[in-house]
Amino acid sequence: MTLTKKDVVSNVLRGRTSMPRAEAKAFAPANIALCKYWGKRNEELNLPVTSSLSLSLGPLGSEVVLATCEGSDRVELNGEAVPERAPFAARLFEFLDLFRPTPATHFNVIARNTIPTAAGFASSASGFAALVTALNDLFGWGLDKRACSILARLGSGSASRSVYEGFVEWHAGSREDGMDSYAEPLDARWPELRLGLLTISSETKKTGSRPGMKHTIETSPLYAAWPAKATRDLAELKSAIVARDFERLGRTAESNALAMHATMIAAWPTLLYWLPESVRMMQRIVAMREDGVPLFFTMDAGPNIKLLFLEQSEPRIREVFPDVQVVAPFSAYR
Ligand code: PMV
Repeated sequence: MTLTKKDVVSNVLRGRTSMPRAEAKAFAPANIALCKYWGKRNEELNLPVTSSLSLSLGPLGSEVVLATCEGSDRVELNGEAVPERAPFAARLFEFLDLFRPTPATHFNVIARNTIPTAAGFASSASGFAALVTALNDLFGWGLDKRACSILARLGSGSASRSVYEGFVEWHAGSREDGMDSYAEPLDARWPELRLGLLTISSETKKTGSRPGMKHTIETSPLYAAWPAKATRDLAELKSAIVARDFERLGRTAESNALAMHATMIAAWPTLLYWLPESVRMMQRIVAMREDGVPLFFTMDAGPNIKLLFLEQSEPRIREVFPDVQVVAPFSAYR
């Protein structure tokens, strides 16, 4: 039997009643994977082939204010009404379909990204995580974070990780219903760790991660090597975090991102997200490293680059990359 998203929602909510309160508000951070999620074992439920590990971006993410309303669904993003036929609204309303207590229940969603959307960093991950948290509050379901992570995963895989701060592991799980595929925070903090966001292009990418993963699995001869690589990298990253070994963390994250891109590049037709400027930046990072600066990068399904470095290197990084936006993911804990 093929399970649908709706089956998972019923399973998670287990007959919880649903009298909405007037309004609910929630925030969720964006996250950057150090060990990537690339490939689904179940397309409908967003169940991944491998486990992944990310770092949440603290105050950078999405804020959602949610209320029920009459007539039809409405969404406003960063202060502007989004036309109902825009892909963003269509995807959102389809997700909300999973949660309507009656077909006549409609939602008013006011979303604001604190991560620069125009810089190409806005992620569906923080949006879906914030939305699920707001739904949980609006309907008073009292779901725990694990359940919220499972529901957020139905919106976008990486959203499962955005329900937590800090380092977060998303367990791939093996069950067909995905009830063991949720994220959990690692019990580890690293206050000196920094992420730098480098905008190369703010254009919407031609191929999103969903079709991108599918195309890679179907056509890339290199994908076969990916699951073992991701499994090794995840273990390596976790031990680097415990040991506070930055060199090992950075090297593993960079190599993981490059291996993921290698699978995409070898797909046919190729899935090449890199722009000339992305490559120029990568070469500059490698050169700085050769000059003794402990600096690494990671990239998602797009041309933008995320730098990984420690607090002590920040002045040097800002000098070389004046436009960098620096995030201190653990600053709230200091
Ligand atoms: O959650 P999605 O469907 O947007 O996929 C995310 C894919 C990557 O960003 C490339 C990797 C990851 O683990 O976040």
